[in-house]
Amino acid sequence: RIYSRILGTGSYLPEKRLTNADLAAELAQQGVETSDDWIVDRTGIRARHFAADHQGSSDLATEAARQALAAAGISADDLDLIIVATSTPDMVFPSVATMVQHKLGTAGCPAFDVQAVCSGFIYALTIADSMIQSGSAKRALVIGSEVFSRILDFKDRTTCVLFGDGAGAVILEASERPGILATDLHADGKYKDILCVPGHVNRGAILGDPVLKMDGQAVFKLAVGVLEETARASLAKAHMTDADIDWLIPHQANIRIMQSTARKLKLGADKVVVTVDQHGNTSAASIPLALDTAVRDGRIQRGQTLMLEGVGGGFTWGSVLLCY
Ligand code: ACO
Repeated sequence: RIYSRILGTGSYLPEKRLTNADLAAELAQQGVETSDDWIVDRTGIRARHFAADHQGSSDLATEAARQALAAAGISADDLDLIIVATSTPDMVFPSVATMVQHKLGTAGCPAFDVQAVCSGFIYALTIADSMIQSGSAKRALVIGSEVFSRILDFKDRTTCVLFGDGAGAVILEASERPGILATDLHADGKYKDILCVPGHVNRGAILGDPVLKMDGQAVFKLAVGVLEETARASLAKAHMTDADIDWLIPHQANIRIMQSTARKLKLGADKVVVTVDQHGNTSAASIPLALDTAVRDGRIQRGQTLMLEGVGGGFTWGSVLLCY
């Protein structure tokens, strides 16, 4: 059997960092009231990064990709597939992936975006894994990159305190040694309205509301249930159990969703990689950002079993179980 093995990881956070106190002070100037206590208590978030005006998802993605290529010890010309998960592309088209390809100074290999919001990286990793297993790719660059600060309504305190910008990347390589062991993807379009950006471009004008709308409590309830289900589905496909998981790397939306999922999977808090406190919710970027953080600080070691799982707008959800 051919596996997709992670050769290297990378990530990038924009320079501008706002603590909850910084954000609360900015919002107060517009008459919007919030506090560090409320944000930490309800979400676990303490700080987030926001991209500069000149930075798009492709810039963040390219920085993360450069780090991942360096960690893998390969060059961009060695890639034969580039997939970017994003819901905040630089343009309607072309894709962020083709822009990243060009910024990395290479050309020729297939490059495309995947849009599954906060599950985007799980979707992208699963597609790359399928292409590697089928023999149509040998070395894939898979990125999650977002500038959610562009689609936030800074007058809506129930959403604008939750998100941040960033990018994370992995290089996958075809290998006979174990890598990705199982994947599991789902979607249910009936939940469109509980988390969406309803606006769209129509004949040169933006029609509808171009900022994020969310029913937080509905999202919370749905997320906790499907994250347990998809983790169990991937474990079953690999004939493994909860006890085999060394690290849970969930989408970093909210510490309470992560703690609840860990409890359901009977995992201690010490087995969960948490970066939501420092990054906020970076949507498709959150899982590869958390993965790269824990690889670089030495928590994640070669040979360990990782459960990556995400849930997001659509609704979409899924998981990837892998041997690092
Ligand atoms: N600062 C201060 N007060 C606030 C803020 C804020 N930023 N936001 C809301 N409040 C107030 C509300 O106005 C309300 O006040 P009221 O009781 O006087 O009306 C009170 O706090 C409680 O509001 P709720 O919406 O009931 O708060 P809740 O406990 O549900 O927490 C939250 C809201 C954090 C969004 C929660 O529902 C949640 O975690 N949902 C999950 C959503 C999520 O994580 N989404 C991320 C995107 S989706 C994804 O990535 C999968």
